[in-house]
Amino acid sequence: MSKILITSALPYINGVKHLGNLAGSMLPADIYARAMRLMGHEVLYICATDEHGTPAELAAQAEGMEVAAYCEAMHEAQKQAGAQFKLSYDYFGRSSAKSNHALTQAFAQQLEARGLIEERVSRQVYSNADGRFLPDRYVEGTCPSCGYEGARGDQCDGCGKLLDPVDLIDPYSAVSGSKDVEIRETNHLYLRQSALSDDLRKWVNAAKGWPPLATSIALKWLDEGLRDRAITRDLKWGIPVTNEDGSVRKGFEGKVFYVWFDAPIEYIAATQDWAAETGGDWAPWWRTDKGADEVQYVQFMGKDNVAFHALSFPTTIIGSGEPWKLVDQLKAFNWVTWYGGKFSTSQKRGVFMDQALDIAPSDYWRWHLTANAPEGSDAAFTWEEFQSSVNSDLANVLGNFVNRITKYCAGKFDGKLPAGGTPGEAEAWIEAELATRIPQLIKCYEAREFRKAMTETRAIWAAGNEYLTQAAPWTHYKTDVDQAAIGVRYGLNLVALFGIIAQPVIPDAAAKILDAIGVPEDKRSWNFGETTDVKALLSALPEGQAIAAPDVLFSKIEDTDIEAWTERFGGAEG
Ligand code: MF3
Ligand code: ZN
Repeated sequence: MSKILITSALPYINGVKHLGNLAGSMLPADIYARAMRLMGHEVLYICATDEHGTPAELAAQAEGMEVAAYCEAMHEAQKQAGAQFKLSYDYFGRSSAKSNHALTQAFAQQLEARGLIEERVSRQVYSNADGRFLPDRYVEGTCPSCGYEGARGDQCDGCGKLLDPVDLIDPYSAVSGSKDVEIRETNHLYLRQSALSDDLRKWVNAAKGWPPLATSIALKWLDEGLRDRAITRDLKWGIPVTNEDGSVRKGFEGKVFYVWFDAPIEYIAATQDWAAETGGDWAPWWRTDKGADEVQYVQFMGKDNVAFHALSFPTTIIGSGEPWKLVDQLKAFNWVTWYGGKFSTSQKRGVFMDQALDIAPSDYWRWHLTANAPEGSDAAFTWEEFQSSVNSDLANVLGNFVNRITKYCAGKFDGKLPAGGTPGEAEAWIEAELATRIPQLIKCYEAREFRKAMTETRAIWAAGNEYLTQAAPWTHYKTDVDQAAIGVRYGLNLVALFGIIAQPVIPDAAAKILDAIGVPEDKRSWNFGETTDVKALLSALPEGQAIAAPDVLFSKIEDTDIEAWTERFGGAEG
């Protein structure tokens, strides 16, 4: 048993997240957390809303709300959407929490004391019309790299490059639209990432268990040469730059830390808040002098977040010279694409978490998005494939199997797990099949290969159907009840097993299945992880056990549903 710390990239506060965000960070992190808990590991799964920076201010402004009130409301909305999607966070914090203010300021002071933060004169875009500096997303214009016209100051949506707002061509204010902008000088704090380049490269090269996507992005940045980055901004909302006595640093009135400096620190601060709320102890998860060396720390994120997690945050951690825990495995995802383009929060393109649940239960989405996770490459979302995931995998393969055998047991065996019969060829076949497939499934989860884990899960469910075809209890019933009984008994034990392995991905349906056939809570774990004793697995349910057929597990998605959703969400025309 190990201790596993899991974080998913903190969702920006600026609105309920779309399915692309969900599929590339929160959902796989949740599935991993659930799978590891079932295998008996001690898991701590932490997430939070990322509440600072221009995304927060701009979104609040668009809603005509004060930033603090907006963040409060959106935090609740995101928390609720997460709960409805059955994301099993141990704690869902806020980067605006007091704990994060304190920790961020402490890190900055420590880094400065070690010569890794420097105050420098910097050039910023200033808007005369708005009477203020325009950091990051407050300025838009044409990307100097690819020519995309709606590029935001911090990052181009066209080519994905990180930008410096002063490099935008034809810049204009995102606040007022005014083009009356100029470059002015003002002081900011810079994190000297370049000073740690060699340490970072060594660390990235030594990293194990990162997907190639993560390693290649990190190395590309290192090869291009790390630039020192400003970690403060001309904004009011955020974490102020203070001295050790808590007073505002001279010249930093009206400035706060850059959102990307304080957000990852919130992983730690949220753990502190979790500890305060639950009476737990945060230090053994994060301090290597308090046992965190024993912790396996896994981060989940989309590919645009890799540079920050593989380089910037580690600069903070390593640069502090203090015994903080670094990430062990960084699991990065590509994009889920939406009819040729990207999902977009600002352009409201795609399906958002709250809307998704209006039209289908969370299990359907969880299954589809994981079976088609953007792991090796981008993955296109289409309504037709969503329909086919639900109808063929869930309804036909799993749902039918469970239904067929539980109903048959109710009809012919009085709803009780029957005794009798001797195992024959069909039983030997399914035992052999499971003896190879279950260890394979466990391996996929341990390697965080989610698509493969789903393929394996589906294959195991499909093997159940194949077994029933071979065993054919309904054919034997008239001539040899015992022969029928063994088919039903194996079938019902398969139902238990299928429910158990379904838990990480479709927790609601899995619970329904396990409840219906009476598998007690303490028998739902994955202790079969250590054993390939399939015979024991297939005789786990006690004879005579009461068996009920669960209510409809999955209802099929009709073509008319697809038409209505395409109409509502504007899928087909892109
Ligand atoms: N809010 C960022 C995004 O959605 C992710 C922040 S992750 C953290 O891209 F490291 F800052 F926490
Ligand atoms: Zn570009």
